[in-house]
Amino acid sequence: MQRIAVFASGRGSNFEAIAAAAERGDLPAEVALVVSDRPDAEVVARAARRGIDCFAFSPKEYASKADYEREIVARLDAAGISLVCLAGYMRLVGETLLEAYGGRIVNIHPSLLPAFRGAHAIEQAIAAGVKVFGVTIHEVDASLDGGRILAQRAFEYDGGNRAEIERRIHEVEHGLYVETIRWLLTSE
Ligand code: GAR
Repeated sequence: MQRIAVFASGRGSNFEAIAAAAERGDLPAEVALVVSDRPDAEVVARAARRGIDCFAFSPKEYASKADYEREIVARLDAAGISLVCLAGYMRLVGETLLEAYGGRIVNIHPSLLPAFRGAHAIEQAIAAGVKVFGVTIHEVDASLDGGRILAQRAFEYDGGNRAEIERRIHEVEHGLYVETIRWLLTSE
């Protein structure tokens, strides 16, 4: 059974979908570790409820990104992680983590990349007046949301109701992330 890690900074609904799928046997993997850069994030409590190990850290308590990423790499190594899934991890992955786990890190992003990179993708899409929204899963490299695209799914929506758009994005994300992780774990 492969062991995966989920990184998140916030609510953790994608973590929940992945962990639930693994528990149901819909993924040939176990979520063995959660990493969060916000000890007070909802995802930390969700991990505890599921009895999944969690490394929650405050970046400001480390001298540099390299320092906290060294600690993350040590935790990933110790847990025997073969795939890292970023799910609302709102930090750029740095050199230290990429050197150790490059090619084994994927991210989910709430837009049809390469449109609307960065932290405010949904707001950018609304401001641009798009009529088709979507989600992308991509490999993580040193660029901002620029790694090789692995999967995308779109839906039509004409309107500016942010809460409704976010609800539909999450709905798409939860299914697409589980499908893509399954594909990645079984196609190697
Ligand atoms: C997701 O919609 C994800 O696509 C987005 O954060 C949300 C996390 O939701 N990620 C980014 O914006 C990355 N730039 P969740 O905590 O409920 O899974």
